[in-house]
Amino acid sequence: MITKHDFGALADGSRVHSYLLQHKSGISLRILELGGAIMELCVPDRNGRFTNVVASYDSLADYLLDTTYFGALIGRVANRIAKGKYEIDGREYSAFINNGPSSLHGGRIGFSHRLWTVEPRDGEDPALILTLHSPDGEEGYPGNLDVTVTYTLTADAVSIRYEAVTDQRTPVNLTNHAYFNLGGYASGSILGHTLRLDADRFLPTDADLIPTGELRAVEGTPFDFRTPKTIGRDFDLAYPELALAGGYDHCLCFTAGETETPVLRAEAFEPISGRVMQVLTNQPCVQLYAGNFLKDPAHPLSGGYPQTPQSAFCLETQKMPDALHHAHFDNILLSPGERYDYTTVYRFSVS
Ligand code: GLA
Repeated sequence: MITKHDFGALADGSRVHSYLLQHKSGISLRILELGGAIMELCVPDRNGRFTNVVASYDSLADYLLDTTYFGALIGRVANRIAKGKYEIDGREYSAFINNGPSSLHGGRIGFSHRLWTVEPRDGEDPALILTLHSPDGEEGYPGNLDVTVTYTLTADAVSIRYEAVTDQRTPVNLTNHAYFNLGGYASGSILGHTLRLDADRFLPTDADLIPTGELRAVEGTPFDFRTPKTIGRDFDLAYPELALAGGYDHCLCFTAGETETPVLRAEAFEPISGRVMQVLTNQPCVQLYAGNFLKDPAHPLSGGYPQTPQSAFCLETQKMPDALHHAHFDNILLSPGERYDYTTVYRFSVS
């Protein structure tokens, strides 16, 4: 079942809605037209109690002012572009600088802060088809880009399919920025969650969180999640890479790289609730972000719960950040005639 709800108005008077998808299994998903953001994802614990496991805000004003990107769709280019400058076919382009010396998550008004067109598709597995037209030159990016994101709620999972086409060669790297806490979004630290990630390399960064270009083996570092361990076990801020970023905020590269169809790449487990989240994707990488910047007292979470660092984590499936500056990184350029098409599934169970 899908229901539509009013969530306030933009400065120009246009109304913003949220859509609540409820599956007969009991799980539910709420998506906001602004940024196509996941506002609520309610899944059961081992006693059958449903809780929202993603961070969100109560008011539209917080979504408009936020720099957390709670649950939002991110584009055209997820993560940072060093100095915002890049070249395609000998031509220089500039993306808006909004994060220290870098362009972050699409620029001044990224896809996270745009109103998407939403088409509900009710049925056994309710779905929303979100579309966005990003005109040639928007945020400095070349080419008209047409993006379609399909959220489908199945009995135990949320699937997100990202598709895009362009009429000029342009960078595209899309993701979703949901912040998870499997104990419930307001249940405190995520450092006790167990995490497994099938990633054998990670990208060290400089102090501006720009990858240095090195692909380093995770072996013997805090980034080795190939065998499950708690997120907190090696969360040692004395470790140089973690010190620079204030915690985990790094791209990890899946051992098997990009695949044809989504495969299981990550699994998180919260011992008190028993909730398990599996991440399946065909993307080559994931940004593991431990919510280190969650400390803005002006924008409390839903219910007035204060922002606290490491109270939620993100597994943002994507291609490598700042790939435009490194020939040996993933190709994030989309050409006319090609179709960008990736899917990530967040699947829930209990243990
Ligand atoms: C990404 C970045 C972080 C931070 C958040 C948004 O995950 O890697 O450094 O900017 O987005 O707050």
